[in-house]
Amino acid sequence: MQRRNFLKLSGLSVGAAVSGSSIAGLLVSTTSCKKEHHIGLMTSPVTVTEGNFSKPLSFPAQAGINQTLTAQATAANLNGSTIPVLGYQPNSLLGPTFRVNNGSAVNIFLQNNLSEHTNIHWHGLKIPALMDGHPDQLAMAGGTFRYQFTINQRAGLSWYHPHPHENTGKQVFQGLAGLFIINDAEEAALNLPSGQYEIPLVIQDKRITTTGIAYNPSMEEVMAGYMGESIVVNGIHSPFAEVATRYYRLRMLNGSNARLYNLAFSNNTDMIIIGNDGGLLKNPVTVKDILIAPGERLDVLVNFSGVPVGTELFLVSKEFAHGGTAQGKQSFNILKFKVAVALTDSFTVPASLSVINSIPASSAVKTRTFDISNAMEHHGVPMNNGMQMRHRINGKLFDSNRIDENISSNTNEIWVFDNSKGDEPHPMHLHGVFFQVLDRTGGRGAKIASESGWKDTVLVMPGETVRVLVPFENNKGKFVFHCHNLEHEDDGMMLQYQLS
Ligand code: C2O
Ligand code: CU
Ligand code: CU
Repeated sequence: MQRRNFLKLSGLSVGAAVSGSSIAGLLVSTTSCKKEHHIGLMTSPVTVTEGNFSKPLSFPAQAGINQTLTAQATAANLNGSTIPVLGYQPNSLLGPTFRVNNGSAVNIFLQNNLSEHTNIHWHGLKIPALMDGHPDQLAMAGGTFRYQFTINQRAGLSWYHPHPHENTGKQVFQGLAGLFIINDAEEAALNLPSGQYEIPLVIQDKRITTTGIAYNPSMEEVMAGYMGESIVVNGIHSPFAEVATRYYRLRMLNGSNARLYNLAFSNNTDMIIIGNDGGLLKNPVTVKDILIAPGERLDVLVNFSGVPVGTELFLVSKEFAHGGTAQGKQSFNILKFKVAVALTDSFTVPASLSVINSIPASSAVKTRTFDISNAMEHHGVPMNNGMQMRHRINGKLFDSNRIDENISSNTNEIWVFDNSKGDEPHPMHLHGVFFQVLDRTGGRGAKIASESGWKDTVLVMPGETVRVLVPFENNKGKFVFHCHNLEHEDDGMMLQYQLS
């Protein structure tokens, strides 16, 4: 359905977007060009419209280890009116939050009451291939799927969302996603802020209309990714949270389809990063701002002591160096904190959080390079040969009948994501494993503060090449890896590896 839209739009939009642009010369015979990658560069993302931060932040219900999730059309109150959304009952716009101990056996029954197929991918869980929500493993409309697995990994913030190829973007954007928190003894021993002082935040952008959450990406929006004008946190547009003058633990997920956030506090408060996709870092790192891409998680301590009661401040997204892409040109408020209660806590930030051994690059038995540039001249494909310009990895589009990479279990590999000639940000994500980021060349030129420890998604900005070290263990089977810009993923920017 999206594809038909693009074809329909391509004639009009290409001409309109290109007039007056500096690359107009490159786009000679536009009629044969189905999709033009460079158009996304000139199209600014939808401008964010802030609400009035008068609705209290709330949290999805908690899920149990024996849980039914019913994917269904439902309704949510957004911007004052109740509109149709998708949701996982027993919650609405977001599914319930799982919170389980390492070692738990989990049994989740998906009832698909949507009018189309869906499935659930457990993003960040190291579980068997047949439970992972591969795009081949579906629950048809009216059908069911039983997910059963045992948690065998360290504490961390993971999440779940649909993964039906070519429809992931729509189902996530319209409301299907949820958090999956794993606890363990190592983390508990740190006595991090907990209970009301541990705040999970799902940050997303939505396009809110009176008739629902609109999802109808134009050709340009497939290029840049689909973005919304309303920033919602835990499914609430522009909310506020009352806090006390003490430490808080903010556990954040960028659950957006395409939008990057450069998170910071309006009063320039320190953000003490203690964890990321794969759990705790070795040591805390203090920053003033940090970029988070779709699919990534951040575990951050913030100290509100010293902030006078009565103060209002914001979690914001600041402008950022966008490497020629359309994002990063607007700063906006995400969540308001009202410092409401004076309180003294005795918490001190542990100097050491966890044991993480860096795996030496020299242990890798193989290096695989993935060209994710997608620049129109890059694959040597002329614009007029009838080949559609699509988001590809190594020139290939997703094909579930083709294994792209064959990997031997219990080997370490280096995977290189090469966006050096590209012009769009690509958060690259691997299923079934966590990896360590070795280095970044070009663009930002270095690892950022949140990229130590264990990651499952890494942002590769235009001009950058990022190398990661992947220890493939013994979780055999067929897994996907892809760009977590969901429009890119649905467009085909996804391949498969087979671990045997
Ligand atoms: Cu969160 Cu394959 O994705
Ligand atoms: Cu995943
Ligand atoms: Cu991408």
